[in-house]
Amino acid sequence: MEKIKIHGDQSLCLKGTVKVSGAKNAVLPAIAASLLTKEKVHLKNVPQVKDVFTILTLMKDLGAAYDIENNSLCVQVEKINSYEASYQLVRAMRASILVLGPLLARYGKAVVALPGGCAIGSRPTDLHIHGFEKLGASIDLEHGYIKAESNRLQGTKIEFERKTVGGTENLLMASCLARGETILKNCAREPEIADLCELLIKMGAKIDGVGEETMRIKGTDEMGGASHHIIPDRIEAGTFLIAGALAGDSLVISHVRPDHLRTVIEKMRYSGVSIKEINSHSLEVSKQEYLKAQDITTSPYPGFPTDMQAQFTVLMTQAEGTSIITETIFDRRFSHINELLRLGANIEVSGDKAVVKGKTPLSGAETTATDLRASASLILAGLIASGETTITEAHHLDRGYENLERKLNSLGADIKRIKKE
Ligand code: EPU
Repeated sequence: MEKIKIHGDQSLCLKGTVKVSGAKNAVLPAIAASLLTKEKVHLKNVPQVKDVFTILTLMKDLGAAYDIENNSLCVQVEKINSYEASYQLVRAMRASILVLGPLLARYGKAVVALPGGCAIGSRPTDLHIHGFEKLGASIDLEHGYIKAESNRLQGTKIEFERKTVGGTENLLMASCLARGETILKNCAREPEIADLCELLIKMGAKIDGVGEETMRIKGTDEMGGASHHIIPDRIEAGTFLIAGALAGDSLVISHVRPDHLRTVIEKMRYSGVSIKEINSHSLEVSKQEYLKAQDITTSPYPGFPTDMQAQFTVLMTQAEGTSIITETIFDRRFSHINELLRLGANIEVSGDKAVVKGKTPLSGAETTATDLRASASLILAGLIASGETTITEAHHLDRGYENLERKLNSLGADIKRIKKE
């Protein structure tokens, strides 16, 4: 089992420039979208992270050919071998469910394992299923699988009962090949969805209302190939912002879209962190001696992202006063807190709230990573904890961060990956 070892230092100074990779959560639906056409889809700025390789394994099972070199990926699905996303793959990565919409729309059939719960919450699929049924598909839930079938999907009006990123993406992709117009209401508005829309439009889709809560999609008979540059990963960028706030000295974060991070930047500035926008794609962040506690409540975009909750909690351990962190998106996303307690943080969890009392000096300890963002938060805490912090089950980090340790080391951190001990 792999471990990460961080040699922390309360007076660590992170300096230099770090380049943000392409967004994991934008590239996964983009890869699934390539199922909508028999032509090639060329994606640039693709992060080489484990989730990308998991979805590519699934795509290959389905019949796709692909070629990935550096950060450039070419995917082509000339014909399909299988309609099925196995439990093994869906369990490894819930975003596998994103193949359901495109498969159903192009081939009239899809079989996808029900994901079940995961480390961060129960994560049902009712909103996806309800939407496909409204488009005319018949859905059976049997033996742990969603079995969907349809003749050509029929455009209709679908209003999501609650905001769902994956549900919006799945229904959006399916609607592109449906007959007539589909109106999607109460859509999630995350930048990754707008990025998917841009790709779909290049592939021939007709979408009105990109980035808005209501989208109108005029179905087309056939989609074509396209080339698309994936947006920067706002969560990776946000993770570096927190690293800079904890230990940065004019740390520059490049290849970022500051407009995708407005709420995070605002909260950090209220807390006293110095963040400068050097230009439309670079931010500079420096540690300040005095930070003020801030409350956050996670909510759908443009609200505070749940994927930044764990990292922000680490920052609040270094702020004076009490912060209340409210998690509204996932029902079990506080697993990093028990690990942060081991480093000396003062946090109490009650229901959907974590109450952080700062400022507390952190001291290195052995910890366990439970999911992707929890792992990132432990690395951040380890950077400023005195002595050594180890993180077991480090593989969680590799699902969504491209070379996080290497990037932090290039700025002055001391992080090592240990294969086996
Ligand atoms: N939900 C339902 N029914 C559904 C679908 C979702 O009740 O049919 C609930 C979920 O249980 C959750 C909430 O709605 O409580 C939001 O789920 P959503 O569908 O928006 O999340 P997702 O599409 O499964 C994506 C990201 C997550 C990110 C969330 C929220 C990808 C591949 N994943 O998940 O990313 O936390 O949106 O922003 O885009 C991560 O990168 O670490 C990560 C977990």
